Amino acid sequence: MNALDESLSKYNLIHKGKVRNIYDYASDRLLIVTTDRISAFDFVFEDEIPGKGELLTKMSEFWFRKTRHILDNHIIEDSSINVASDIVDRSMLVKKTEVIPIEAIVRGHLSGSAWKSYKDSKEINGKLINKEYQQYDMLNQPIFTPSTKARIGSKDENISIEKMYDIIGKNLADRVISKSLLLYEYAYDYAKKRGIIIADTKFEFGIDSEDNLILIDEVFTPDCSRFWLYDIDKNHIDHNSFDKQFFRDYLLSINWDSQQIVLPANIKNEIMERYKLAYKLITDNVDGL
Ligand SMILES: Nc1ncnc2c1ncn2[C@@H]1O[C@H](COP(=O)(O)OP(=O)(O)O)[C@@H](O)[C@H]1O
Ligand SMILES: [Mg+2]
Repeated sequence: MNALDESLSKYNLIHKGKVRNIYDYASDRLLIVTTDRISAFDFVFEDEIPGKGELLTKMSEFWFRKTRHILDNHIIEDSSINVASDIVDRSMLVKKTEVIPIEAIVRGHLSGSAWKSYKDSKEINGKLINKEYQQYDMLNQPIFTPSTKARIGSKDENISIEKMYDIIGKNLADRVISKSLLLYEYAYDYAKKRGIIIADTKFEFGIDSEDNLILIDEVFTPDCSRFWLYDIDKNHIDHNSFDKQFFRDYLLSINWDSQQIVLPANIKNEIMERYKLAYKLITDNVDGL
């Protein structure tokens, strides 16, 4: 048993996600411990990125506080967390919710799987796009492109809005969509003023014990968003990735064969340096990182 597991052994580990470990903390509370694990293409690497868990935790906390006026979230602010000091910086006490089984993805620019699908078929999530776009272009307006939440070992699947209606009902789906777009638009403007373009992002939502729709999981981190640098004076976007895409590109460049590998030190450093730059620009704070 390693030090992390030992100091948390008083809590019941109820879910081990790709990056986060979720413990039962109290009847209505969960303890989310964000590890230094990295995943790509739905594969979790044994080799870790030191400091990543703390950075993701702080970045999510930052955005959860900033966006509360748009939608309440799972963070419980008012109590200290009873865990070892080396874990506290990557621990979050949250409201236990019933997770809505949809990955709520919003895109303001055309990139990744949406670009590939548009290029091949002019469709994104089954919807025909009539306008002409190049890769990375800003879309007319941000679009909501849901996917299913796959179990560990399988892949998320892009779905249409109609399919999302079938899965969670139109009423709830429409609320998730409108809150997602509001959250994205707010954060897009906020980050752009500070030199980061949030090209796209993914949210998760849950229903709390009082039946409220709330924002859960992580929010606007470099693990769940696509970040590009934006030169405000020159009004120029550099499409180099300051998010997990850098790591995906590395894996593609070495023809990675979906097996465990030791990650080169320079790649691990580069991932952290990129994550830190995004964090610093957005939060204007590098204390303790
Ligand atoms: N407030 C919450 N209530 C219930 N489940 C949550 C809450 N916040 C996050 N989760 C769940 O915890 C897990 C987070 O771990 P993560 O490593 O991100 O998992 P995944 O492999 O699904 O991406 C996700 O399955 C997420 O849905
Ligand atoms: Mg996740």
